[in-house]
Order: sequence, then structure tokens, then C-alpha cells
Amino acid sequence: MVYSFLWTLVFVIYHKTLLGHGWAVNNFLMTGPKAYLTYASSVLAGAQSGMQECKHQFAWDRWNCPESTVHVAPPKRQKSATRETSFVHAISAAGVMYTLTRNCSLGDLDNCGCDNSRNGKLGGRGWLWGGCSDNVDFGERISKQYVDAVETGQDARAAVNLHNNAAGRLAVKATMKRICRCHGMSESCALQTCWMQLSDFREVGNYLKVKHDQAHKLEMDKRRVRAGNSADPRGAVADALGAISRSELIYLEDSPDYCYKNSSLGLHGTEGRECLQHGDGLSQWERRSCRRLCHECGLRVEERRTETVSSCNCKFHWCCTVKCERCTQVTVKYVCARKQGGHGQNRRRSKGPK
Ligand SMILES: *[C@@H]1O[C@H](CO)[C@@H](O)[C@H](O)[C@H]1NC(C)=O
Ligand SMILES: *[C@@H]1O[C@H](CO)[C@@H](O)[C@H](O)[C@H]1NC(C)=O
Repeated sequence: MVYSFLWTLVFVIYHKTLLGHGWAVNNFLMTGPKAYLTYASSVLAGAQSGMQECKHQFAWDRWNCPESTVHVAPPKRQKSATRETSFVHAISAAGVMYTLTRNCSLGDLDNCGCDNSRNGKLGGRGWLWGGCSDNVDFGERISKQYVDAVETGQDARAAVNLHNNAAGRLAVKATMKRICRCHGMSESCALQTCWMQLSDFREVGNYLKVKHDQAHKLEMDKRRVRAGNSADPRGAVADALGAISRSELIYLEDSPDYCYKNSSLGLHGTEGRECLQHGDGLSQWERRSCRRLCHECGLRVEERRTETVSSCNCKFHWCCTVKCERCTQVTVKYVCARKQGGHGQNRRRSKGPK
């Protein structure tokens, strides 16, 4: 469901690079503009890092950014605009912008470099702009060019997706950090030069996960949307957006119940999912994962022990043998499993898609 978006992106890139200009493939590979191909692979790398981050952020959620559908879903199937798809759009657009910006600063690309536009100017008390600021404007432009190009529809869904793409790109800017370096006599730091630098992509993911949790449902005038011709759906979205800020994620439809398997929606349900029970350094969200994934979905938690035997305590004997002991290590995993005799009935109603 969700991943058909990624497929569409691949399709658009393919289309733009190979077909869009009417070149034969062979001909293109020989003579085509190198920049286009260069961007295409970086754009794909960026979209993939977005999906990787999605998996990380949702590892202990009922919906865990599943990828099984990527290989089967036909490109046309993405229908819904849920809270979860809003995240996928935002993180993909952000991933592409982030990667291209990084590429640019690292000098990977011929026709772009650091953003030095403010260098030498006073930035604030005691500091000047200087050094290599990450060129987010470049990354933003390429992300728009490729990721937004997927949304060719004129419907409300396309407008919502475009909004969320833009919100993802804003997240990249919002998480940037000012880095400064001191000049002058040692430790005096009388003068500093500063530049703007991307945060770790993880921070962009954290930021967008919060936006996902706070996403706004667009309440649209349904008649106006259905009427189709009398009013453009994109206009209806613009109206419904009202006071919602550009940095917020928005969605149109409530999420399905991610507890349950639903093949027509490409959902696996939480049966068989691992959860975390004990352990040091778990966040509260992680510590509650068994409740969220298993208990609240009418499943029980099953303990699975696996023993691995390995060589250990090896000693070297002169000369020349190594003697080892065999050690057994037990790892315990917790997995959501069906209750005995239960076939999914009398599941407790879950409270919303978590
Ligand atoms: C841009 O960065 C990504 C991720 O680090 C990398 O995979 C890709 O090859 C880079 N592109 C270029 C043109 O170096
Ligand atoms: C799957 O989801 C669709 C759409 O929400 C729903 O109509 C259908 O009943 C669901 N199927 C199952 C098996 O739950």
C-alpha cells in the first residue's frame, strides 16, 4: 500500500532519465546528461534512507512500515491518505533532500557546493557567517523535482501528499544546527564563525515521528470534493487546511486496525511480531511494546528461547594447538502469539492504531 509510492518514485526517475527525453536507452547511456543519472541514484538512495528511518521509528508500533508490499503492489494501488502514509511521504521527501544536500556539501556533485552566500556577514553578537553551510536549498529543489513529480493527480489526496512532502522538507531545515568555531587567542573565543549544518538524519526522523503523533485530520466539505468540477479538490484542501501550519502532517482517512491481518490492504497484523519485555535502557514506549502489540490486540506473549553453542574460553597451547570450551548462550525473545483455542475472536477492542 505504502510502498507503491516508492515504486512510483522509481518509475518517475526511470521515466525522467530514460524515457522522458525520447532517447533510446543505449543512446542515453552513452550520451545522456550525466547529472540526471547522478541525481537519480542519489534520489533513490535518499528515498531508501527515508524508508530505513521509517522502519526504525516504527519498529515497536503496530504499523511497522512494512515492506512486503513493495514487491507486489502495482504502482496504481496507493489509495489511502492515512496518518501513516503522511509519515512515509514526509520522510521520503526529507530523505531525498537530506541525501542530496549531503552529496552537495561533500563535493559529490559537479554543479553545486556549500552555501556560502552569507559568509563574511555578521550573524549575531560576536559571530560571523563562515565555513561550509549545508546547501539545503539545492537539496530541497531536487527533492521537489523528483518526489513531488509523483503526484500527478488533481485530487485531494495528491494535494495532501504534496503538503506532507513539503512538511518533511521543512523538518530537515527545522532540525539544522548552528556550528561555531572560535578564533582569536586560545580560549578567548572573542570571535566565532558559524555555519548551518544538517543534524543526523535520526533527528529528522524523531522530529517527524512527533509530527506523526500529532497529525491533523483534514475535515473537508465532502460535497465540495465529490462535486468535482464545481470546485477543484486542491482548492478544497487549501480551504480545509485553514490554520494548520505548513510544518504539520495531515491526513484524510482514519487508519485501519493494524492489529489484524488484512491482505486486501497489505497488512500483516501483529501476530508473530517481536516485542520487548525486559532490558536495561528501554524507553517507556519500548517497555510497553508487548502490551501494545500483543495484549491490546487480543494476543498473548510467547517466550521463545534459542540456544546457540559457540566456542569460548579458547587457550593457546605451545605449540601449536588451540583448545576451546563450548558455551551455550540462551537468547530470549518475546513474540505475539494467538491464544490457545482462540481464532481471533474475543479480541479486546484496540483503541486506535498505535
Ligand atoms: C549521495 O549520497 C548517497 C548516500 O550517502 C550515496 O549513496 C550516493 O552515491 C551519493 N551520490 C553521489 C553522486 O556521490
Ligand atoms: C480489510 O479492510 C477493508 C477496508 O477497510 C474491509 O472492508 C475488509 O472487511 C477488511 N477485511 C478483513 C478480512 O478484515
